[in-house]
Amino acid sequence: MVCNMKNNNRVLAMATIGLFLILGLSEQCYGALQPGYYNQKCFITTTTGAWPLTKSQTTEVNVEATVKAAMKLAFTNDSTIAAALLRMQFHDCFVKGCDASILLDGKQSEKTATPNLSVRGYEVIDSIKKTLEKSCRQVVSCADIIVMATRDAVSLASGGKVNYGVETGRLDGKVSNASNVNLPGPTISVSDSIKAFQQKGLGVNDMVYLLGGHTVGVAHCFLFQDRLYNFNGTNKPDPTMDPMLVKELKPKCPQKLNIANTVFLDQTPSSSMVVDKAYFNQLVRKRGILKIDQDLAIARQTKDVVSQLAGGKDYEFAQKFGQAMVKLGRVEVITDTRKGEIRRSCNLKN
Ligand code: HEM
Repeated sequence: MVCNMKNNNRVLAMATIGLFLILGLSEQCYGALQPGYYNQKCFITTTTGAWPLTKSQTTEVNVEATVKAAMKLAFTNDSTIAAALLRMQFHDCFVKGCDASILLDGKQSEKTATPNLSVRGYEVIDSIKKTLEKSCRQVVSCADIIVMATRDAVSLASGGKVNYGVETGRLDGKVSNASNVNLPGPTISVSDSIKAFQQKGLGVNDMVYLLGGHTVGVAHCFLFQDRLYNFNGTNKPDPTMDPMLVKELKPKCPQKLNIANTVFLDQTPSSSMVVDKAYFNQLVRKRGILKIDQDLAIARQTKDVVSQLAGGKDYEFAQKFGQAMVKLGRVEVITDTRKGEIRRSCNLKN
């Protein structure tokens, strides 16, 4: 950044600034996305002693450690927070980029769009933001809090096995409209899903790894009910679903439906809430819940990656999933202060 240049480069800097101004390209002093962006950015001043002998001391607040500690508490209270935040990051990043637009309140904001009505975890992000605002005002963006908190939740929900280092330095968006929410639905075809991910700069393999997020959390029965009772108007179950699974799911998702019924997306009893590769093992055994989940194991473009992950080592999934989450975190990020801001409160624009 021009604003960080050293004295010996002053002449060059002046020339560069001039050139930028002439060309009308002047970017504000805000760094690009990078690991550890908040190092040396958040300080707290404490005062001790009585006047006139007061002493003040400024200490750095470790932003990432603050988020981690908060997430540890949140996870202890409710381990389903990992699933909630994974889904939140996906829904945030896929609509106008990773800019926390999903967090904004408003009559017509993204939060009110149908796919977001079952997104959870807003209060955890708001509470981390409040804690950080107490130490350093308007330094840490809500967009970064979502990404850091999700990373920590994933680590906790994997028993420390899935760890990835995130980049930070995002700004918060100022626009949030339900009409912008165009998220893929559970019956999207693999080819259309590939297109949707490609539009966000994510490849076919990234898409498969990221859908590995369905290794935790639940789906409402009504989103896949047809697969159990009346697939494509045949009055029969979906032939791509293991008949045993159909039998197991029917009592949980009766035909006379209670709209609130849910089942685990990963049908491995011991690890339905653990971030691991078990979801992929279920897919190769025809035990995927959503149509898109199962189709990943069938479609020519994705089936090989699915079986590689299922047959591979745990650490291979951990690595691939982590890398894909970092890529997801790069989608249409705002770093220019003319286009974004650091909110004071995650649910409100400044
Ligand atoms: C083609 C892409 C995707 C589709 C069609 C899709 C669809 C869905 C649907 C229909 C549900 C159930 C929602 C409900 O019952 O209320 C769900 C849940 C979930 N999704 Fe996805 N999803 C996709 C990609 C992703 C990605 C990329 C991630 C994360 C990296 C993700 C993480 C989750 C999680 C963790 C849940 C469970 C949430 C909870 O228990 O609160 N999904 N998804």
